[in-house]
Amino acid sequence: MSLTGLLCDMPLLPWLRRTAAKVPLILVSNREPFVHHRTGDGLLVSAPAGGLTSALQPVMAQSGGTWVAWGSGSGDFDVTDPLDGVMVPPDDPRYRLRRLRLSACDLLGFYTETANRAIWPLCHSQLTRFVYDAAHWHTYRKVNERFAAAAIAEAKGRSAVCWVQDYQLALVPQFLRRVKSIFVHQFWHIPWPSPDILRVFPEARRLVAGLLGNHLLGFQTGNDVRNFLASVRRLFRDAVVEPAKGLVRLHGRRTAVRAFPISIDAEAFRAQAAHPDTEARAAELRARFLPGGGTLLLGVDRADYTKGIPRRLLAFERLLMDHPRLHGKVTLLQVAVPSRSEVPEYQAFEAEIAERVEALNLRHAQGPWVPVYLVRESLTQAEVTACYRAADICLVTPLQDGMNLVAKEYVASQEGKAGVLVLSRFAGAARELREAELVNPYDTGAMAAAILKAIETPEEERARRMAALRRRVHRHTIGDWMTDIFEEVERLRPRA
Ligand code: UDP
Ligand code: G6P
Repeated sequence: MSLTGLLCDMPLLPWLRRTAAKVPLILVSNREPFVHHRTGDGLLVSAPAGGLTSALQPVMAQSGGTWVAWGSGSGDFDVTDPLDGVMVPPDDPRYRLRRLRLSACDLLGFYTETANRAIWPLCHSQLTRFVYDAAHWHTYRKVNERFAAAAIAEAKGRSAVCWVQDYQLALVPQFLRRVKSIFVHQFWHIPWPSPDILRVFPEARRLVAGLLGNHLLGFQTGNDVRNFLASVRRLFRDAVVEPAKGLVRLHGRRTAVRAFPISIDAEAFRAQAAHPDTEARAAELRARFLPGGGTLLLGVDRADYTKGIPRRLLAFERLLMDHPRLHGKVTLLQVAVPSRSEVPEYQAFEAEIAERVEALNLRHAQGPWVPVYLVRESLTQAEVTACYRAADICLVTPLQDGMNLVAKEYVASQEGKAGVLVLSRFAGAARELREAELVNPYDTGAMAAAILKAIETPEEERARRMAALRRRVHRHTIGDWMTDIFEEVERLRPRA
């Protein structure tokens, strides 16, 4: 059973019924939802790990339209038509994926250097990792212009809604806004920093000006909206900023700024978790990682320095050192999917995690018990769900995160179970998931205590809290997120 299939079977969202037929939807993101790879066995298709594509792929499958993205796979252009488009999902085509060809030089300046070594660390307040170079910024601008040109070409002169995604494409809206028949909306998936942090970026003014090309700009939380509005005020003395209305006016343009916390298809995760194949796989995982029984802890992340994995390992080790009675009775399964391996900070980080896990295991393993299993590959959504189902406790402890979908997916997969979610206060998800065990990921002692508390909490109490969390996740799903956004688009479009 595929998650995509489940969402496609849901009744059409109300906004889709009203508008999708009239106005084409053109989604623009850097990462594509499906990647074709050339292999010795022919072409293989995979879905990349990451919150953006995993959240948006099912909704595009339902709404139809066009998705413009970088064609990153070695076999991507083996399957496209002469206009570089291909219908996807491959097993049930529902929308057009228009792939953009980027050269190695484009990718270096745009993706590796500017998006991932400047804007990503800046927005996650990781200033020691921030690297800036004016020549690379120039490439970022040029590539953003190409994404905009591709979206404009796909609109074919018709009225259209262009839905731009995330920090790789901050300048796309300013190019799209020149075309009167296009309504421009962008969703920023990652945090927006305070103006004091933003000042570090020499291109801060241009970055913000690019985003003010949007008619509607969405962030994950109210805090991100406040930081953005404060940044506009700080950088543009002539801007009129109305925080109560979430409105910016600058040089004759209006931009509405709103918080739209992203979510997941909770029902699809619930159904997938309850499937007999998932239960069977979960039982296999427990038998493998906990041969003597006990508590299975789980971490599921891209290997990204914002995810807090080293501090999580320190907290786990502290727990083992302070409570020897837990030896042999608790195991951490850490999935750390290789990510952005062309970025030097990520290469070093991946190696650091592997070394830390190896050292921890050398210090504490006894007999058949291995305290930490590290999985360094991308798992399918079905396999990730089996891990959620197998785990007693899920550790989601990023140093900073726009939302963190893993937290919500774990909760949605706990139907009939009483797992515990240990969640960083600095993840956007913490604003909604109040019944989680909330932690400060910089305080490893407190994290160790939170894990111990999670292990020792009576089943009844765990079940009560998890039921409350499940209700929250089912009350606000990816469908509600889309509806909130597109009702706002409908409200604003006539005046745009
Ligand atoms: N994911 C996956 N395979 C893996 C690890 C993660 O499909 O091996 C998915 C996970 O289920 C989630 C997404 O990747 O949907 C990660 O999203 P999140 O918001 O937690 O973090 P991001 O990677 O976007 O920073
Ligand atoms: C985060 C970002 C997305 C990105 C994903 C995976 O979720 O917000 O924009 O697509 O990470 O990262 P990658 O660099 O592989 O696209």
